[in-house]
Amino acid sequence: MNSVLLASNRGPVSFTVSDGGELTMRRGGGGLVSGLSGVAKGDGVLWVCAALSDGDRSAVRLAPGGRIDQAGYDTGPLRMLDIPPATFHRAYNAVANSTLWFVNHLLYDIPNAPSFGTMFEREWESYRDYNGAFALALAEEAGHGARVMVQDYHLTLTPAMLRAERPDLRIAHFSHTPWAPPEYFSLLPDEVVGEVLEGILGADHAGFLADRWAQAFMDCCEALLGAECDRVGRTVTHEGRTTRIGVHSLGVDGDALWERACEPDVESHMAALREQVGDRKLIVRIDRTELSKNIVRGLVAYREFLDAHPEWHGRVVHLAFAYPSRHDLPEYREYTASVQRCAQEIENEYATEDWDPLILNVNDDYPRSLAAYRMADVLLVNPIRDGMNLVAKEGPVLSPRCALVLSREAGAAAELGPHALVVNPYDISGTAAALHRALVMPEDERRMRRDKLHAAATALPPHKWLAAQLDALDERPGETAGET
Ligand code: G6P
Repeated sequence: MNSVLLASNRGPVSFTVSDGGELTMRRGGGGLVSGLSGVAKGDGVLWVCAALSDGDRSAVRLAPGGRIDQAGYDTGPLRMLDIPPATFHRAYNAVANSTLWFVNHLLYDIPNAPSFGTMFEREWESYRDYNGAFALALAEEAGHGARVMVQDYHLTLTPAMLRAERPDLRIAHFSHTPWAPPEYFSLLPDEVVGEVLEGILGADHAGFLADRWAQAFMDCCEALLGAECDRVGRTVTHEGRTTRIGVHSLGVDGDALWERACEPDVESHMAALREQVGDRKLIVRIDRTELSKNIVRGLVAYREFLDAHPEWHGRVVHLAFAYPSRHDLPEYREYTASVQRCAQEIENEYATEDWDPLILNVNDDYPRSLAAYRMADVLLVNPIRDGMNLVAKEGPVLSPRCALVLSREAGAAAELGPHALVVNPYDISGTAAALHRALVMPEDERRMRRDKLHAAATALPPHKWLAAQLDALDERPGETAGET
């Protein structure tokens, strides 16, 4: 039986089936998976995740008990859950990625306010079933007293469901996203508000990436559940149970990242990029194309910068990576189209025969983005809201001289803010001014800031982040939750 279990929607690997029926395994993507991969190994560790595609479902059917051996993928055994596709679609797309993601990133506005009718009730029922499937698998797999680490907004109900089945387990929940304030969180139907908060409070320890998200969660528990919050001891007590609240920032493994970024495929991308941009300065951004990343306002800010500073025409290139994300959702498809439209407008307005002011990359190309990091003079990270944002941490590790323009609304701003140029993500003129300031920053100042950013970014690599949470599960209730 297993003594440590990780549970997340997306697992460390995914499968594709060829026309001939052959299965190919590849590493999964996303911030959460990068954070947990490589640390989820060792005796007695099991990772439970959902089958996300037809390829994954085929792999599960071929694997005894859904258990997949990932030889060569550095993450230990995996159990993939074959949840019926329609249930999965409603839970993942309609509830997790539309409703809960939108609420916690404050993405609803008045013309685009949510409606919760009978269709949502059905979607919510699927979200319950999907969370229930995880709870059941974890209850089956966990040894007596095992520690179970449940990840993110996909699985908010699982901790309470699992506790009902297996009171002997030590359960943690971790939110990789921001958390909304109570006035906004209560957009959700009362029943959903109650189930989500009580679902997470089913855990012994609820972790967040930054203090402000932990405080917002406690605000919601207090205002919407009537729970008792001890802000000093960081606990929430509800219906006789106490859950400890922890703040665990996540950083990058600087050595491993640097090693990867020195491989020949990255070096050849660097040579190709250098050929393309010459000795012009580079402003880099790297994001998945999702609404919370605020890519369009970033592009408009670059346009304002070009407009205000003609002396930079021909001397700077904006290299923007906007990787495909969640294309099953219409909002994401529309957003991708508006990013492309905006980029085209900048090209039309400013490009000359020998200068491309903007290069937009819309296909996944990890080695090319590592090359861009290494060459960046300026890194732009301007999300509307973000749990942490690892791009802001990876850039200073890989570029010896990049200045960071960083949204105050990224969780990473709590640690990196003092050494970055911090912007309000809605303030386009302020962002344009910061881009200019970053470009003209004196060499000694940029190197000094970059060294401090590097130190802050690598202070808490994933293995320390995970270890701190496992340690927190060993604490007795009432003890101060571990903070990293
Ligand atoms: C980002 C967020 C994570 C989330 C993940 C899901 O990385 O920071 O909180 O779990 O997206 O992405 P997916 O592609 O699986 O929808």
